[in-house]
Amino acid sequence: MSANTIERNQSANLLPEDGQPVWLFGYGSLIYKVGFEFLEARQATLDGWKRRFWQGSHDHRGTPERPGRVVTLMPDSQARCTGIAYRVSPDVFSHLDVREKNGYLRLFKPLTLNDGDSVDALVYIATEDNPAFAGPAPEYDIAARILQCQGPSGPNADYALALAGALRHMQVEDPHVFEIERQLRAMLAADNKPHYSSEAG
Ligand code: SIN
Repeated sequence: MSANTIERNQSANLLPEDGQPVWLFGYGSLIYKVGFEFLEARQATLDGWKRRFWQGSHDHRGTPERPGRVVTLMPDSQARCTGIAYRVSPDVFSHLDVREKNGYLRLFKPLTLNDGDSVDALVYIATEDNPAFAGPAPEYDIAARILQCQGPSGPNADYALALAGALRHMQVEDPHVFEIERQLRAMLAADNKPHYSSEAG
């Protein structure tokens, strides 16, 4: 599959044709950097999925030569991922499909809202078979990589720290994200600046 998923997401025709609002689940940048209009926003959980910094970012927090790392969801029957559910007009997806084009497929998943209601929500998930998938690595290595990367949307470290801060504010426990945040802060304190470089790698 191509890393650019715009065509695939738009031809899947999952959006209601009558323009009725749909639920969208955000678990990464869609939590802390919204950038689209919504009718309602609620904390929500997706059972059977875990949030991981396992997706490469060629277009926002890195470059094709030096991809950063951003979050995707991985299936895990023991896990649950907490994020924000937004009720949105289907119009927002023309913008979001471009924003999430680097490997993310827009899929319907069953979601539990904070009042216990169940809804089907669209979720952008970068599956293992996409060419930008970076895969598992120790949290220390992920943090070290994040510290070295930046892209058109800014430093990769800003993404990771903003996500960790937003989850803490929501009182969500995410040991993977918080460990990467801890490592990043330790690296930043030791050296006091990110290690950007134009070298490939
Ligand atoms: C999301 O936030 O739901 C998708 C991943 C990202 O944009 O960070």
